[in-house]
Amino acid sequence: MTQDELKKAVAEAALKHVVEDAIVGVGSGSTVNFFIDALAKMKGRIEGAVAASEASAQRLKGHGIRVFDLNAVSALPVYIDGADEVTEHLHMIKGGGGALTREKIVSAVAERFVCICDASKLVPVLGKFPLPLEVIPMARSYVGREIVKRGGRPVLRENFTTDNGNLILDCHGMALLDPPRMESELDGIAGIVTNGLFARRRADVLLLAAESGVKTLEKKQILA
Ligand code: 5RP
Repeated sequence: MTQDELKKAVAEAALKHVVEDAIVGVGSGSTVNFFIDALAKMKGRIEGAVAASEASAQRLKGHGIRVFDLNAVSALPVYIDGADEVTEHLHMIKGGGGALTREKIVSAVAERFVCICDASKLVPVLGKFPLPLEVIPMARSYVGREIVKRGGRPVLRENFTTDNGNLILDCHGMALLDPPRMESELDGIAGIVTNGLFARRRADVLLLAAESGVKTLEKKQILA
């Protein structure tokens, strides 16, 4: 199977996690695009969606799925999103598409985070994928120096502005052995809007597509 076929398979498997007659949280990226296309098949059985990026909102609307502003929604039973890397502890790096801030906000509201990935995203330790930081433009150099102090190598994402009008620094070589601790530490640096570690609020369920089929890993099966 190609990587796109694996993404499509996992996206379709995620449909059974969608709660009927409710609003579903939808992340962003190529795997989520397959999910949005699959969701269109059951659009008559959901109230609508909250999107974590403008691109996802446009794709949802293109399928005739109603898109709600998060401020108009008091509860989201489930949020479905991809990841750039995920561990068996369901800690993730996200933000490859630059939508990490809205993804973190929407996932914070959701009761359940269902992460959908092909098997290439499962890693023993996070950090081979450069960690994205969404940064306020005037803080770019300061944040860069703080990352260098921590052993990282920040690279400005060229010709890219987030949906919130900010920059992305992709940080290579970060030691991410304790993702929740590093997530909190980076949250403490002025000028970083959001860091791409999703560890304090990790996924509740990981759906992982491999040649042998789509496997499900639940947070409750994990000790730490
Ligand atoms: C976007 C994200 C995506 O979920 C992540 O980049 C995975 O994308 P893809 O499904 O295209 O591999 O975090 O900000």
